[in-house]
Amino acid sequence: MTTLAILTAAGSGSRLGRDLPKALVGLAGFPLVLHAARRLAASGVVDMLVVTCPPGLAGAVREIVAGDPQVDLPVRVVDGGTTRQASVAAGLRLAGEGVDVVLVHDAARPLAPPALVRRVVAAVRRGHPAVVPGLPVVDTVKRVELAAVAVAEAADGPLVERVVETPDRGLLRVVQTPQGFDRAVLVRAHAAGASRAAAEHLAATDDAGLVEALGLPVHVVAGDEAAMKITTERDLLVAGLLVEEES
Ligand code: CTP
Ligand code: MG
Repeated sequence: MTTLAILTAAGSGSRLGRDLPKALVGLAGFPLVLHAARRLAASGVVDMLVVTCPPGLAGAVREIVAGDPQVDLPVRVVDGGTTRQASVAAGLRLAGEGVDVVLVHDAARPLAPPALVRRVVAAVRRGHPAVVPGLPVVDTVKRVELAAVAVAEAADGPLVERVVETPDRGLLRVVQTPQGFDRAVLVRAHAAGASRAAAEHLAATDDAGLVEALGLPVHVVAGDEAAMKITTERDLLVAGLLVEEES
């Protein structure tokens, strides 16, 4: 029984807009990628870590993560791809036959707690091939379509979108990472997803979506507010408060 965690850290962080990749931005004195790696290690259920890094930064990322005494796991660093999906695929190539469970986690969710990591792995080990943490949706959500006229208007006026549907929010979940998978299932899902990405130029934003596309079941376990995603400066401020709360 071997669990490998792929920690995606190869994104540029364009929406954060700093002059270094998002995973290397500091939070309470440590890079986001290190916060995430420490909590994966602290879960006690991860045996190996693969970090996907931005081009040219493998050495720096290795020093940060593998050099940290709290990350007491074998660590490998690989160059990521141009999309998150391609980055996960690069990490997955390092998951050998001896690995039975693969976690995929984003450095952009640096504070995902060890207990959440254990919950996801436990559900996979109970026999679910794909498991995602999810939270209830607090806002009412509308599905919209961009009518041709609206797109034309949007060029120089306020965006006008047509509402198509209001799904029952009681049946919606906001999903987080880490997501957990039976390794063979994730490998198959990524192989199929790579063909689709090549044909349709559309990459998936999460791995469970690729499993769903195979027609296999994906299950949700309770997520955690602390596993919030850092996208903007405001998120970093909130995460700073959460770190204070932790200690
Ligand atoms: N990621 C990755 N490889 C990519 C793109 C994203 O490994 N080519 C990772 C990011 O490092 C992040 C996670 O996927 O940990 C989620 O992506 P996101 O939050 O969108 O991060 P960025 O793509 O870096 O940010 P932005 O979209 O604002 O540029
Ligand atoms: Mg992105």
